[in-house]
Amino acid sequence: MDIKLSSNSETRTTDNAPGGTLDEVRSAFLRHSTSKIQSVEDLAHISSLGFRGEALSSIAAVTRTELITKPQDQELGAKYVIEGGKEVSLEETGAPNGTTFLIRQLFYNVPARRKFLKTPMTEAGHVQDLLMRLSLSHPEVAFQFINNGQEKLRTSGNGSLKDVIYNVYGRDVAANLLEMEFEKGGLKISGYLGKPVITRGNRNFENFFVNGRYVKSPMISKSLEDAYRDFVMQHKFPFAVLHFHISGEEIDVNVHPTKMELRFQKQQEVYNTVYGCTPHAAGAGADPQGRGAGSCRCPEDLGKSLPLKAESSC
Ligand SMILES: Nc1ncnc2c1ncn2[C@@H]1O[C@H](COP(=O)(O)OP(=O)(O)OP(=O)(O)O)[C@@H](O)[C@H]1O
Ligand SMILES: [Mg+2]
Repeated sequence: MDIKLSSNSETRTTDNAPGGTLDEVRSAFLRHSTSKIQSVEDLAHISSLGFRGEALSSIAAVTRTELITKPQDQELGAKYVIEGGKEVSLEETGAPNGTTFLIRQLFYNVPARRKFLKTPMTEAGHVQDLLMRLSLSHPEVAFQFINNGQEKLRTSGNGSLKDVIYNVYGRDVAANLLEMEFEKGGLKISGYLGKPVITRGNRNFENFFVNGRYVKSPMISKSLEDAYRDFVMQHKFPFAVLHFHISGEEIDVNVHPTKMELRFQKQQEVYNTVYGCTPHAAGAGADPQGRGAGSCRCPEDLGKSLPLKAESSC
């Protein structure tokens, strides 16, 4: 992703994913059109990040958008130009495999809305945050983010979450991580926790992903912070990148307009697991309520990094 944000904003997003054909292009831009749902049952099992079919139509309505896409097995690709929601052209073109969206002049036709954009620096920061989260949620995908010609982020796509954490947060954070892995019943948690030496004055270091999607969860935050309470100073928050894998039927993702928050059916179980599996709970030893029970692989150097009072129960 390559962005230049100014009064003539321009963002270019290129991928080498399967791409689309000429006759699919128009429908992709229709409101509420999605290729991700074939049957009603799919709604309960959606594993992709989006399925509302709003992104392309909304973007095209308020920008000058150009799409070039080509599937691997086709000789020629398609180029589609759509401005302010109106089709300008659709034609065949030579193109590399994959898809490029060139999106220019955001809100050019909605000046009132354009006034509410923050400074290019702030908006670029939001884009970078998003790219950071996408990278952390998909270590198997290589991401590159360029802002005003300067590379701000690059990940290799080698599948290692730890490498992505290094790319995103740098050496100091990457050198102070504790691995976490838990699986029990339908719940799987994996990822990294920061040793108490790396904390923040806000929750920006708390990254939670549920089935690949970045979420804010006051409940998960609380369980993590409760577990760290004895080990970090007041008003400091731990570092975490935790991936939750949970059956789609046990969560409701449609409780928030941008799907940023979700509802867990088994709130208490998730709370207990995170609390139980983090270092503090390990230090608490065998817990009468069985916190942390399950196949929880706790960090090896846990005892050294935290002032544990009891043997690890994990
Ligand atoms: N980069 C891409 N490569 C190939 N096809 C794409 C790409 N982006 C969008 N599409 C196609 O266009 C359709 C509509 O895209 P759009 O982003 O509007 O909806 P969606 O991804 O299904 O859901 P959401 O609105 O939640 O993003 C997608 O379902 C997909 O088939
Ligand atoms: Mg989409």
